[in-house]
Amino acid sequence: MEKILVTGGAGFIGSNFVYYMLENHGDVKIVCVDSLSYAGNLVTLEPLLGKENFRFVKADITDREAMYTLFEAEKFDVVVNFAAESHVDRSIDSPEPFLMTNFIGTSVLLDAFRKCGCGRRFHQVSTDEVYGDLPLDRPDLFFTEETPIHTSSPYSTSKASADLLCLAYHRTYGVPVTISRCSNNYGRFQYPEKLIPLMISRALNDEKVPVYGEGLNVRDWLHVLDHCKAIDLIIHEGKNGEIYNIGGHNERANIDVVKTVLAALGKSEDLIEFVTDRPGHDLRYAIDASKLERELGWVPETKFEDGIKETVEWYVNNQKWWKDILSGEYVKMSEELLKKT
Ligand SMILES: NC(=O)c1ccc[n+]([C@@H]2O[C@H](COP(=O)([O-])OP(=O)(O)OC[C@H]3O[C@@H](n4cnc5c(N)ncnc54)[C@H](O)[C@@H]3O)[C@@H](O)[C@H]2O)c1
Repeated sequence: MEKILVTGGAGFIGSNFVYYMLENHGDVKIVCVDSLSYAGNLVTLEPLLGKENFRFVKADITDREAMYTLFEAEKFDVVVNFAAESHVDRSIDSPEPFLMTNFIGTSVLLDAFRKCGCGRRFHQVSTDEVYGDLPLDRPDLFFTEETPIHTSSPYSTSKASADLLCLAYHRTYGVPVTISRCSNNYGRFQYPEKLIPLMISRALNDEKVPVYGEGLNVRDWLHVLDHCKAIDLIIHEGKNGEIYNIGGHNERANIDVVKTVLAALGKSEDLIEFVTDRPGHDLRYAIDASKLERELGWVPETKFEDGIKETVEWYVNNQKWWKDILSGEYVKMSEELLKKT
């Protein structure tokens, strides 16, 4: 039985990863640590509460004592650190929580992992945003694992700092770390402040959908399950001390993504409203994931057109999930569910 700590498992990618691992590995136990910040929703994990192979712990990864106690008690084989403050706009308004969770939190987890003498792998979930951006007129350029770190926002800086700390712990203390840097994810369970669920929730209410600048910024979209599969491979077959890029080969201008979503919903493009651009807005992200393909045989399986259709359907069919978030009801619901843990 492999025991895996998933931090941030009540958020978007972490929750998808928890479900993916439990559905695809019979011999795994998942312990999920999440502070249930505004982005954490225990309702997402409700079907798993009380199951033998799943345990939820409400805790903050910056809480050293709580993390040491947990690591000592559980002796994890693998740690996958998703917990983060993840919204760039919020990092521009208030950088400090990003430095606390993303950098200090990662340092606490690394120390707990090292001092408790447990584990064969510490996996840090990072982002392509650590590489900065690429010009729009150079479609031949891609981020590789060798691209220098060149961050733009407090968010990406906090993530890049954590990556460097992981590599330092590998080099200095021999901690068996791997790092993955992925592009923009889409899929079920994403907090409705992020582009795709925000567009869907507003368009369904016939509200204007805000698009930064002229919507020309390009992102590489990765289906969340393709991301989960890549992490599963890396934690089992990746090499200690290595960085792996994960990308979907799905570069799209934001405006095209919005138009695709509106078309899938049968809504008019008149709902689009261009708003003042984000300060320091990165122009283009494009990932070269050939190392992961070459060394571990991973390829993204979901075509953007199929994935986006399925994702739009999920948000249409699960309106209670995101409406409870928009109304704030999910906080009370999560507190109720906590009593079951
Ligand atoms: N969403 C993307 O497209 C994307 C792309 C690249 C990388 N990433 C990275 O993937 C990871 C997960 O992203 P996401 O989109 O699922 O984020 P999210 O905001 O949906 O979820 C983050 C989770 O972390 C929890 N959390 C926050 N601070 C915490 C703390 N101090 N202690 C314990 N838990 C805490 C939150 O409650 C939430 O459940 C992040 O590390 C992010 O940087 C995300």
